Amino acid sequence: MTAIPFSQKTLDTLSGKVVVLTGGAQGVGEATVQLAYNAGAHVFFGDWADDKGSAVESAVKSSNTNSAGSVTFRKVDVREYASQLALFDAAFKAHGRVDVAISCAAVAEPPGFFEPENLDLESVKQEPTELRSRLDINLTSVLMFSRMALAYMKASPQDGTSRSIVLVSSIAGITEAPGLFAYSTAKHGVIGLMRALRPYAPLRYGVRVNAICPWATDTQLLAGVKDKWIQEKLPLNQPADVAGMILQCAADSTLNGKSVFVAGGKGIDTEEGYDKTQGQWMGEQLAEEWNRGQRVLGLGDGWTN
Ligand SMILES: NC(=O)c1ccc[n+]([C@@H]2O[C@H](COP(=O)([O-])OP(=O)(O)OC[C@H]3O[C@@H](n4cnc5c(N)ncnc54)[C@H](O)[C@@H]3O)[C@@H](O)[C@H]2O)c1
Repeated sequence: MTAIPFSQKTLDTLSGKVVVLTGGAQGVGEATVQLAYNAGAHVFFGDWADDKGSAVESAVKSSNTNSAGSVTFRKVDVREYASQLALFDAAFKAHGRVDVAISCAAVAEPPGFFEPENLDLESVKQEPTELRSRLDINLTSVLMFSRMALAYMKASPQDGTSRSIVLVSSIAGITEAPGLFAYSTAKHGVIGLMRALRPYAPLRYGVRVNAICPWATDTQLLAGVKDKWIQEKLPLNQPADVAGMILQCAADSTLNGKSVFVAGGKGIDTEEGYDKTQGQWMGEQLAEEWNRGQRVLGLGDGWTN
């Protein structure tokens, strides 16, 4: 088990760096905006909640007038390609660089689509467009965001800066999550994207990629089960705990390819154990063959459609 320690000294290396983040109008995203700004970063954050985003921009600015950084809000709907692109573009035009990209925006499971009471040969004729829309937010937009991040980082000065992408997944992206059908599909997809990028982006772009997998965190997303959770004395993160892990992955030049499970305020990399026990769950011989197969595939340049 590898714990990811929190170090303010590492976070302080974000001073002067340009950070682009989606979903910053509340919860974990808002806490990340505040922490990055406190560390002296220039933060450009987007959210579709216009009023809340503007209020966060003002509150963060006035909370710490000594910060060497800056904070800028733009209205962004992550489902719209041009909207996310405009956020990157604003950051790049202002500073000529993008150093850190954090995809944090997400929405909860839409209720009822898998319940037997609602699902029969009549109701199934109606396309569940709401499910599609939520997958767009929680997964497709993250893929687009990551590709944009690589383009803007490639265009940034190649001055030895350790650049990185941080994708916010969930514990529902690495384990079963009862009742979270669309959400879990998307969050597993985010881990898949991180795994596809982790051998590739460092070599081809000099960019590290990590995922954050929070367990229960005290934001409006948890509201439905929060009371029960506290009653059972289960571990609960504060948004700032998750924000700390996000920025740790952003700033620590040694971290790449991690899925950081955040529970009760602590961060643990789950990929190391998953990789280490490959021989147990795949069988030693298949694990050896699989690893040889991976070497044959290299960076995947041989795939055709
Ligand atoms: N709270 C938890 O217990 C928990 C657990 C695991 C993972 N997470 C993940 O942490 C991240 C932050 O979640 P949170 O708990 O702070 O939730 P939250 O609802 O407080 O924040 C999510 C933000 O994303 C924004 N957003 C949603 N759809 C958008 C869109 N189409 N375009 C732009 N912005 C959009 C919302 O307006 C909101 O500001 C999410 O990726 C979530 O899946 C949270």
